[in-house]
Amino acid sequence: MAGDDKKQDPTASEGVPDQANRVAPPERQYPEPKAELKRKVAAEPPTTGHVWDGIREYDNPMPRWWLWTFYICIAWAVIYWILYPAWPMVSQATPGLLGSSTRGDVAREIADFETRNEPWFERLNATPVAALREEDDLERFAVQAGAAVFAAQCSQCHGAGAQGVQAGGFPSLLDDQWLWGGTLEEIHHTIRHGVRNEDDPEARWSEMPAFGADGILDGDEIEQVVEYVLAMSGQSHDEDLAAMGAEVFEWNCAACHMDDGSGNTDLGAPALNNQIWQYGGDRDTIRHTIYYSRYGVMPAFAQRLREAEIRAVAVFVHQLGGGQ
Ligand code: HEC
Ligand code: HEC
Repeated sequence: MAGDDKKQDPTASEGVPDQANRVAPPERQYPEPKAELKRKVAAEPPTTGHVWDGIREYDNPMPRWWLWTFYICIAWAVIYWILYPAWPMVSQATPGLLGSSTRGDVAREIADFETRNEPWFERLNATPVAALREEDDLERFAVQAGAAVFAAQCSQCHGAGAQGVQAGGFPSLLDDQWLWGGTLEEIHHTIRHGVRNEDDPEARWSEMPAFGADGILDGDEIEQVVEYVLAMSGQSHDEDLAAMGAEVFEWNCAACHMDDGSGNTDLGAPALNNQIWQYGGDRDTIRHTIYYSRYGVMPAFAQRLREAEIRAVAVFVHQLGGGQ
């Protein structure tokens, strides 16, 4: 290159010493960007002839990796049809060579579970309810089995941690305040037969009258007794109204909630002289309860669960903290 340059350069042969020795730097070659090259080489791909708003659709072949993935999926699907249940028929799907069935798996697991736990269930049934927490190993089993029953059958109403859901009137089962009693036998009965349901003749039953809606008390009396309940539960209230409310309470409420408001578990009447509320303890909620009353319903579990499961979940509830 340098030599060529010299020949072309007429001044080079004049022999100006330092210019003669000077070597022209090689011309730098920048590689052409690949994308650029491709664009020059590749012809415009054919189009399908479809045009939308000036956008033309190229008719390129599918990428090879895509095609292969596609073929593999098809092959996999065919193998799957052969080995596993696949095609829905009239009464059930084609069974597949492996005879696999998730329903069968579950049935097998349940059967396993049953045979493993049968002796425990028998012991639960043979032990008097009140004595279910007296033997350590039986109690441990009952608490574990009961926790599983609780998660499946009770948590949707009473909350995953049995903390209750006030907005729905679902009571907390963690505290030692009981509507219907907190001994093992009472809890067992509540679960077996439920509360105010139509299905079980032995369901726990009682009804607080709708004092407002049924016109038993007038508006003033209701305001008075609301203030009295606020006073009784240690909340801020109107002294004068509450004083008048005491009399309304004595006549209309004490029969169920007791004179001091401590409640009565024979009637499912909650204590009103504390901070624990089934429906809520603010002025508006109390007024609403008294005006319309409530009608808390819990289903009976005697038909839904086996006796051993009911006993297990009763033990579980009893040991949550409030058991008596
Ligand atoms: C559909 C909702 C619902 C389901 C499901 C339910 N409960 Fe209840 N439960 C209630 C309601 C509502 C009450 C309050 C009834 C009342 O006002 O007296 C209640 C009350 C109770 C009580 C009485 C609490 C007390 O203070 O005396 C116990 C114990 C209880 N439930 C346990 C259970 C257990 C255990 C399960 C699962 C096997 C269960 N509940 C499933 C709604 C439900
Ligand atoms: C026949 C019995 C009965 C009478 C009379 C009665 N109650 Fe009740 N009360 C209940 C029962 C049962 C409940 C539980 C609510 C339910 O689930 O139906 C209750 C619930 C309540 C609650 C809700 C408590 C909470 O934790 O949210 C309040 C407040 C209340 N009563 C106030 C009164 C007042 C005030 C009177 C009188 C004006 C009265 N009750 C009369 C049986 C009675």
